[in-house]
Amino acid sequence: MCGIVGAVSTQNIVPILVQGLSRLEYRGYDSCGVAVYAHGGLRRTRSTSRVAELQAQISSTHFEGNTGIAHTRWATHGAPAVHNAHPHFSHGPGGDADARPGRIALVHNGIIENHDELRSALQAKGYVFQSQTDTEVIAHLIDSRYNGDLLVAVTSALAALRGAYAIAVFCHDWPDRLIGARAGSPLVLGIGADGQSHYLASDAMALVGVTDQIVYLEEGDVACLQSDQYRLINRAGAALTPAMRPVQTVHAHSGAAELGPYRHYMQKEIFEQPRAIADTLQGLDSITPTLFEGIKVSAADVFACIDTVLILACGTSYYSGCTAKYWLESIAKIPTSVEVASEYRYRDSVSNPRTLVVTITQSGETADTLAALRHAQSLGMTHTLTICNVATSAMVRECELSFITRAGVEIGVASTKAFTAQLAGLFLLTLVLAQSRALLSREQEARHLMALRHLPTALQGVLALEPLVIAWAQDFAAKENALFLGRGPHYPIALEGALKLKEISYIHAEAYPAGELKHGPLALVTSAMPVVTVAPNDALLEKLKSNMHEVRARGGVLYVLADADSRIESDDGLHVIRMPEHYGVLSPMLHVVPLQLLAYHTAVARGTDVDKPRNLAKSVTVE
Ligand code: M6R
Repeated sequence: MCGIVGAVSTQNIVPILVQGLSRLEYRGYDSCGVAVYAHGGLRRTRSTSRVAELQAQISSTHFEGNTGIAHTRWATHGAPAVHNAHPHFSHGPGGDADARPGRIALVHNGIIENHDELRSALQAKGYVFQSQTDTEVIAHLIDSRYNGDLLVAVTSALAALRGAYAIAVFCHDWPDRLIGARAGSPLVLGIGADGQSHYLASDAMALVGVTDQIVYLEEGDVACLQSDQYRLINRAGAALTPAMRPVQTVHAHSGAAELGPYRHYMQKEIFEQPRAIADTLQGLDSITPTLFEGIKVSAADVFACIDTVLILACGTSYYSGCTAKYWLESIAKIPTSVEVASEYRYRDSVSNPRTLVVTITQSGETADTLAALRHAQSLGMTHTLTICNVATSAMVRECELSFITRAGVEIGVASTKAFTAQLAGLFLLTLVLAQSRALLSREQEARHLMALRHLPTALQGVLALEPLVIAWAQDFAAKENALFLGRGPHYPIALEGALKLKEISYIHAEAYPAGELKHGPLALVTSAMPVVTVAPNDALLEKLKSNMHEVRARGGVLYVLADADSRIESDDGLHVIRMPEHYGVLSPMLHVVPLQLLAYHTAVARGTDVDKPRNLAKSVTVE
């Protein structure tokens, strides 16, 4: 994770660096810092507060420069503390480092796996470490290989690293030069419209309003930037031509949207779901493989030659995949497995070249999901499709086919609108695969299309339940544990509800398929245990009601999301919120919304930092 910005210009670049950092805070917010070349030396300011405070710190001092780097951190090695905050400096070997001017300044996103052995070797050469980070190793390593040419020192140091990195580095001797490199972590290069500035950033979004001319660096690329030019080389030192790394005009959105009437981005994003779904389904007038875009292949050709689906994803995106498995198997009759990406990438699995590998990711940059995709490809499964919310992401570039959800920028760390938009994309995939297997009649197609078109309105109806959910949240705010139950496609919805609650309210929450209760978790049920039950009026309702009786018989307090026709009434120890309408196979998309609201309002009642929950970050670009 972590966010990087760098700039070299003929102008003061500090405001651009700080603005870029504030847009990258979604990547981590344990600490932040900026370093520039000014008054003949390297200067830095670092903080364990948020970027807004760093900005205030900078405004009160005369801190400016034409070359600089900045960083917002998600701590991996070393606690969130100022001495571990980036940028890191190398002052060269020898004790009392702070008494000497800094020689190398560096920021890093990623994890260096061999940092221990490198650290020992550098300490033996006299380097004194001031942090517990793996990053400081890179700064000293570059310094140790510096012989007057920073680019040579950087490429030589990179060759010794094992792990993942995106770095931005500059040095005291060449204050008009900035070097960037990536392997395993994202980095883009921005070209200033004035012809006098160049930039580096973890995400093009950091540069919105500064430049829309972006070069996406690829694995092993090294960039050498000056204010009026840049050049790129690969790992082996060979020059990369503009044709190999074309400049793209990127219409990124800053994400710095107004909160409007909302208190937090998460609440705003929950309420944006009707629009997110409408945008994702915009122009949908028939079920056709062309809903899925292929760069070199047609989706129809790909879908014609697959006989299984393998879904790879993490977190909330994994739960949307788990929901889709029910649709894919029951409607398209295609065997589907769903795997947590971080497990799949290291597992000895059986490969089938007739598999459609589907990655699901809001960001398109999740390290585990990308690695799982590459692992599947390396096993000979070349038919790949991503359901992704960021059209310019690595995931979209690396998959054969894509479906871009139009949820818009999601700022809250807890994913909400991206989840329902993913479900919309996955339902379309189900219908297209059903059609390609001659399992979708005209009437069925028309019925599904009508239901999809009505979804935004149906979601509005569910959002209107917010006051009832707030009343539940008052009870939950005083709890430390909660159970979530569901059956069939609503079991993954229960899992998602539990993840939302634990992620932002810090209440321990677990989800189970309701039939599993008696196999263990029932032992936890007492009057102190709230049990949220997702209870639509479907084929499993009567079974679910039996499971609810099991809870009530043990004194557990039930909070039930029921349909109009579920015939479950509120009672002592039984709280019911009635959903406005039963929504058939798409019901999971509606039932997740009250669970999002429950997590949100419980977190607000507990006073947590809803949009930036502790220890987390929006985009998980490290393993
Ligand atoms: O960007 P991705 O969809 O690949 O992210 C996957 C997970 O990191 C993400 O869904 C995470 O679980 C969310 N914080 C959940 O709200």
